Parts: sequence; structure tokens; C-alpha cells
Amino acid sequence: MSISTNTQGAQGGGNNLALIASHSHISGLGLDDHLQPKETSQGMVGQLKARKACGVILKMIQQGKIAGRAILLAGPPSTGKTALAMGLSQSLGADVPFTAITASEIYSKELSKTESLTQSFRKSIGIRIKEETEVIEGEVVEVQIDRSLTGGHKQGKITIRTTDMETVYELGNKMIDELSKEKVIAGDVISIDKANGKITKLGRSYTRARDYDAMGADTKFVSCPEGELQVRKEVLHTVSLHEIDVINSRQQGFLALFSGDTGEIRSEVRDQINLKVAEWKEEGKAEIIPGVLFIDEVHMLDIECFSFVNRLLEDEFSPIVIMATNRGISKTRGTNYRSPHGLPLDLLDRTIIIQTENYSEEEIGKILSIRCEEEEVDIHVDALHLLTKIGTETSLRYAANLISVSYLVSMKRRSALVEIEDIKRSYLLFLDSSRSVAFLQENESHYIDDAGRVSFGTSSAAATAVTAGDKMDTDP
Ligand SMILES: Nc1ncnc2c1ncn2[C@@H]1O[C@H](COP(=O)(O)OP(=O)(O)OP(=O)(O)O)[C@@H](O)[C@H]1O
Ligand SMILES: [Mg+2]
Repeated sequence: MSISTNTQGAQGGGNNLALIASHSHISGLGLDDHLQPKETSQGMVGQLKARKACGVILKMIQQGKIAGRAILLAGPPSTGKTALAMGLSQSLGADVPFTAITASEIYSKELSKTESLTQSFRKSIGIRIKEETEVIEGEVVEVQIDRSLTGGHKQGKITIRTTDMETVYELGNKMIDELSKEKVIAGDVISIDKANGKITKLGRSYTRARDYDAMGADTKFVSCPEGELQVRKEVLHTVSLHEIDVINSRQQGFLALFSGDTGEIRSEVRDQINLKVAEWKEEGKAEIIPGVLFIDEVHMLDIECFSFVNRLLEDEFSPIVIMATNRGISKTRGTNYRSPHGLPLDLLDRTIIIQTENYSEEEIGKILSIRCEEEEVDIHVDALHLLTKIGTETSLRYAANLISVSYLVSMKRRSALVEIEDIKRSYLLFLDSSRSVAFLQENESHYIDDAGRVSFGTSSAAATAVTAGDKMDTDP
């Protein structure tokens, strides 16, 4: 008996464009409509309490009313902290900004630590800008274009209708170009922005569906609009505060958005933008969407960064900050004192903590089976049992890493099904950390130690202890 996955996919695996990353099996938090976690859903297994708590946070973010909160995901290694954040980001929807950084990223040579943090914070704030424009929307009845003999001068007419009216518009050079660029023909339903003359094709009219049975399968059919030809429409754009900063910082210009090379942005620029955005908000032109900033491995921030984060959290435009750490009571970077999770107490005091717990054997089994499916590996039930046992005794990550290795081992004996033997083989080929540590302790003398000492040879009795330093001295 085997747990079968899509074997066709396994063969075509190489053609798969998306790489299989460590969290690619996760597509959400796996909650039901009442934000209750399902045992296994959207690639998520167990960790119910933490998932439920993340569900509450999700609700808070979606309501968009609360900003500047800090949440800490704390728990032992490989208990799904990063996975939870990834699941949360996928449940958020496209409009809410989500920025993920690893704390070590802020130690870059180009930006100061505080600038780097500020940029991350501002990337996580969305500004939804409302714009009202007047558009002409209707079905094209006829396009008529006359070109002069030299081709330089063009003129024409376009007839557009709704179910209630029909009008003929004169066309200038620019509109003619725009129409030919969009390949507009009779029967298309189009929308023309009156302010900038931009034409958008909305689809083909149903009334013409019969005339063109040679249309591609992706042709979208829409009904002919009703009522007036000219309508007022509200258009929404969402940009991040950081994008507004970059576009307005004169030295950089918007090209920096594409290169990512934004440099430091002057605080005057930011102050002005804050004022402007607040003004837009007052006038009802813009809405502020507090997004999420996820700082993974947050214990890598140092004391200066932590106090800066404290400050940023109190800012008027602050996102919800989710941090993750696997540290227990440990030293805060840049200080001599130890504190819970390596975070200074004043930041901890502002934080609500979500605890993640180690997985049961059953849960590890389920996660590993999901990973096998994700990696398109067929595995025998007994082999999965062994892998689960390895997972409980070593670590979830080690067991997950054995999946792809064992698959290659099984391929070598020309079998597409991973069996117990393949798992055993790869277990012997690759050490987990505890076996590696045991080996190190046993053979300590064969490795160079802190003082530069090492002994060569197989038996430690026969081996002569040499200090690396000594040897150098005797070299000519
Ligand atoms: N509840 C879960 N359901 C499904 N997959 C999970 C779950 N928890 C963890 N995983 C998977 O297990 C692996 C390790 O988890 P993850 O990287 O999230 O651990 P972590 O808590 O961030 O660990 P660390 O502290 O070392 O960063 C990942 O591939 C992750 O997708
Ligand atoms: Mg992690």
C-alpha cells in the first residue's frame, strides 16, 4: 500500500516553474468561517492554539482600525513560527501590505539600521487613494479611420452605443493610435478615460458572440452597458507609504522603485508626505491601511534597533508588527544582560506573545506526508512511519530534508516509490545534528580546537599532538 500522489506530476516535476521551498505547502492559516482552526487545512497541521490566536490577529488586521501593535511568536525551533506568518500573509488578501524581513537584513552597508527599519515599516502601510474619473463606456458599433496618402495625418470616427443610446465621436491622432494599439474592433466593449484618453478593453459584447465563433478560448464576453455613455467612476489605487517616499525623494525618483536602490530618504521628505497623506485622509481622498511587518529571527536586532522599534510603534503610521524568535532567556544583542526571548523588557511589555509548541508524533507524520505530496514524492506507508519516527527523535526539519534525498536514492534503483530501505540509506548517509555532535565528542582530538591544537593519525595513542602555531614556527 502506498500513499499515492500525482505521479504524472512527479515525472513532470522538472518542468514545474515554481520552486518547492520550505513553506510552499502552506496556503493559509487553515481556519473556518468563524476563524476556528481546522485540524489539517491549507497545508497547516495542529498548533491549534497559536493558529487560533493568529486568526484573531487576522481579524484585527482586516478590520484595519488598529495599528502599532506588536506580536511575538515564540517557541522552540521548527514549531512553525515562520510557517504561521506565511499562512497569515496568504490569508490577508492582495490589498493589505505584508512585508517580511529577517532581522539580520538591517545590518546592510548601504543603509543605516534605523533607515532600513523605517523603510520596512513604511513598506507595510498601504494608502488607498480614491480617484473619480469620467469615462465613456459602451460597445463599439463602428470604427472608421481615414489616412492621408502620406500616412502622416489621420482622422476618423468611432460610433459607440449603450442599450439606450448611440453617439459618434470624432477621433484625433492620439486616439487613433490608442485604438490601433489596443486593436479595438466593432463589437468590443471599451472604456475611455476622458482625462487621459486611455482605452481599456472590457471584453466582447454578447450580442456579437455568434458572429465570431473563431474567437480564442480566453475571450471574455460581457453585456452591452446600459444607460448613459458617459459615467463617473471611482478608481482605487493602493500604494505603500514607502513608494510615495521614493517617488518624492528628488535624488532618487521613481526609477529607484524598480532598482530597489533607494538610498536614505531625508526626514523632511517623510514629514511632508505624512502631512499630505493626513490631509488626503481628512478630505476623504485616501484611506490608510495598516499592513503587517514580519520580523523573523528578531533576537538578531540589537538594543539600538529595539528602542527604535519601540518608538516606531508609537508613530502615527505604524503597521502591525509580528516578530518571531526561538530564543529562551538569552542576552539581548548589544547589552550584557539576559532577558526573556532576548528582547528588552520595555519592548516585551508592549508585546502580546503567541506561544508555539512542539509537535506530537501524529502531527509530525501529517506534516511529513504533506511535504511528500508537495515534493511530488510517492512514499510507502511503512517508509513514512520510519520517517516520522526519525522526525520525532531528531527534528522535523531533518526528516523533511530526508524526503528529497530518499527519493533520489530510490530513483537510483529505478523505483519511483520511496521504501523503508531508501530512508535507512539516506539516514546513514546524512547525519542529523545530534549524531554529528556525538561523533565530534568522540573524535574531539582529530579536529582543530580553540587553541589551534589537532592530532593527526588514526589511533589517538599513536597520534602526536601538534599545535597549529608550533607547526607554523618550524616551517622554513
Ligand atoms: N503546523 C504546521 N503545519 C504544516 N507545516 C508546518 C507546520 N509547522 C511547521 N511546518 C513546516 O515545518 C518546517 C519548519 O517550520 P518553521 O520554519 O515555520 O519553524 P520555525 O518555528 O520558524 O523555526 P525556527 O525557530 O528555527 O525559525 C517548515 O517547512 C514549515 O513549513
Ligand atoms: Mg523561522
